[in-house]
Parts: sequence; C-alpha cells; structure tokens
Amino acid sequence: MTAPRGTVDWFATRGTPLQGSHRVPGDKSVSHRAIMLASIADGTTTIDGFLEGEDTRATAEIFRQMGVAIDAPAPSRRVVHGVGIDGLQAPRGPLDCGNAGTAMRLLAGLLCGQAFDSALVGDRSLSARPMQRVMEPLRAMGARVESHDGQRPPLRIRGGAALHGIDFTPEVASAQVKSAVLLAGLYGAGETVVREPRPTRDYTERMLGQFGWPVEHSPGLARLRGGHRLRAIHVQVPADFSSAAFLVVAATLVPGSEVLLPAVGINPRRTGLLAVLRAMGADVAAIDEREQGGESVADLRVRHAPLSGIAVPEDLVADMIDEFPVLAIAAACARGTTVIRGAAELRVKESDRISAMAQGLRSLGIAVQETLDGAVIEGGTLRGGRVDSRGDHRVAMAFAVGGQVAASGIVVRDVANVATSFPGFDMLARTAGFGLHAR
Ligand code: S3P
Repeated sequence: MTAPRGTVDWFATRGTPLQGSHRVPGDKSVSHRAIMLASIADGTTTIDGFLEGEDTRATAEIFRQMGVAIDAPAPSRRVVHGVGIDGLQAPRGPLDCGNAGTAMRLLAGLLCGQAFDSALVGDRSLSARPMQRVMEPLRAMGARVESHDGQRPPLRIRGGAALHGIDFTPEVASAQVKSAVLLAGLYGAGETVVREPRPTRDYTERMLGQFGWPVEHSPGLARLRGGHRLRAIHVQVPADFSSAAFLVVAATLVPGSEVLLPAVGINPRRTGLLAVLRAMGADVAAIDEREQGGESVADLRVRHAPLSGIAVPEDLVADMIDEFPVLAIAAACARGTTVIRGAAELRVKESDRISAMAQGLRSLGIAVQETLDGAVIEGGTLRGGRVDSRGDHRVAMAFAVGGQVAASGIVVRDVANVATSFPGFDMLARTAGFGLHAR
C-alpha cells in the first residue's frame, strides 16, 4: 500500500454569485485510456487536454516504467511514443496506481496479455476496493491473476498466459470491468463479447475504433477479436463532465449566478445528472453541441434556479455514477424529498459515498435516511459545521459546493485527494465566486 500524505482541510463559506466562463480540466476516463492505447499503438500519439491529475499521471508513470517514452512538452499535452501491441517491457517493481480504480482495473486486463509478470498496488482507499469483478472474467479468459486476499489489491499478474476470448455478462454495470475484459481481449484468441446489465461509458470501445482496432459496439454491447494492431492518432480530450458538475450545481444553487463551461464532454453515458437536475428545475443549456476528437462536447450555460426533490430514475444511475455526492447537495437544498435507489455501487467507490454524504449532511442539519442502495434526502437549510470527506475527492468538492449556500461556513476535512481528478479546483472555484480557503 502506498503511504498516506498530510491532511489539508478547506473552509467553505458563502461567496458571491457565480459568474464568468471557466474551463474545467480534461476528462479523467478519456485521459487514462488515451495513455494506455497510445502506449501500445504503432507511432507517436499526441494527447491534448490531458488531465494533469494524480490519477492520470500515475497511469503515464506506469507506462514509462514499462519502457514507453512519454513527453510532456506543455501542460495538458502528452506525446506518447507507442511501442506497439507487444512492445511493453517488464517493469522493475510494482506499478503504483495511487487512488485510481480505473488505472488498476484497466491495467489488470492489459497486463494479463503481456509476456512478463507484474504487480499492481494502490493507496489505502484503492487497497480496500473489490477486484474479483475483474479477476473472475480475466481468469475465465485464461489469465493468471491473484490478489493478496482473493478480493483486494495488490494484484499479481503472471505473464505468458495464452488468453482466449469470452462471451461475458457482468453482474455489475461497470465500465472498468467491461474495459478490462476488452483490453485482455486484444491479446486473446478469437472473439470477446461483453453484454452489460445497463449500458456504461463507452470510451474504451470508441477509442479503440479511433486507433484503428475493429470494434462492434452499441449501448450495452461490445465485441472485438484479438490479433490486430493500433495506429497512433491525435486525441483531443474533452473537459470532464464530472468536474463540471460541481460548478453546475453551485451555479444552480447560488442566487444570481450565471456561468459558462466551455467544451464539456456530453457523452450520454455521462450526463445523467443533467436530466435529473433539469427534472428538479435547473436551468442548464448545452450550447453549440459539436464533435471534438470523436466525442460530443458542448458549452454548458448554467443559471440559478430553485430545485424540487424527485425520485431519481434508476435507469439513469449508471449515467451519473460519479455525480451522486454533488446530487446529494442539490437534494439537500431542494424543496421536498429526493429518493435515490439502485446505486449500491456508491458503497465501493473511493469511499462509501452513501455513508459519507449521509453522515456529512446529517451533521449539517439535513434529514437523510440511508438505505442499502441509496438514500432518502429531505430538502432543508444547510447549517455550518464540520464534515469529513473520508479522503474522497468528490465528497470533498460536493461539500465545498454546500458551503456556498450554508447558513455559516463548513469545514471540509481531508481534501488533498481533490488533486486526483481536479487539480486547482479551489482556485478555479474562487475565481468563479466561491468562498473557499485552505486551513
Ligand atoms: C470509470 C468508470 C466508473 C466511474 C469511474 C471511472 C471509467 O467506475 O465511477 O470514476 O473510467 O471507466 P465503474 O466502472 O466501477 O462503475
């Protein structure tokens, strides 16, 4: 397990109405995948809009350890000198994924197909997250992968396994599981098919296609065969919808706000929160929808609007799986009751997000009933107080949003991990109008 670092807290308090145009950093899911596919492609790939977060830098560092030259000629740009589908080299030591579940699960799939042994480790949070969900299908493909207790990291992967394709229906709707299986499938004999219980984000399938690997996919289904090669491309990473979500909710809640968030990725498998917020009464317009590097982007214009509680449709859960912490803040400030169901996956994210949000909101005076797979949140008035982010980046940013409308300030404990997905969040948020300071 990698060492924990020092604690930083925030003091989040009412600022001014949110105003201006703010460019949020690049998409985390796309940035991870761009480094991975560019590394095993033939030729040199340039990635623009790369997320300079700790999670995605960890992925780049891992590929450097496997012999891939990756230049960083400017912030948010990476030039990856691909080594080809079989060109990775044995790393000298364990590969450190830090806080990044996406790195560990996708790499588990990719590394099963290599000729060399490898080990994947992570920080305290990642070391507690379930890995059977990837180990089981990978073993069914012929991979030799073990974890220290049969469930959790570290993972040890034996090289030289003869992989074969499978026809796989995962129990949980997870883009990470789907992607691990597809990446192993690149190295497998025959066809690999993943049939999902609910469609999840499709960046792996789409990006493989852009790199020239034949992939058949539709929502909830992906199919490919081993034995092709990837060709270098230029990747333009859209702004991360999940990072934009904190500003979308803050501008919705703070009276007098109007912000513009340019070139945000609006892949429908990510934007479930927009549908839910709109149903609650939010005023969010997606302007100038266009295609950028094979993904749909739009400028999001958000104006303040009062919200009413709703029952969140269960078929939207996978499309907004990372947005529940900030949705819980919106629900706490809405009129009436919001009901979240079918979201048990939130218990195994960077923290148990159901418990983290319920406990934090209760300490701020909001009535929350926690259920196994969700919560019932009664809208009310947030008072000030102290909340623990549990080292979870999205819980920390969600409570920073809460501080913008709370009756008095909120101390948000342990926010250092915000740098995993949204480096510079506090500065950008202050520029937009937040009251937010380290302490
Ligand atoms: C991700 C998939 C989701 C999401 C995570 C990123 C990805 O996880 O929560 O932040 O990039 O594939 P699951 O696949 O576990 O749902």
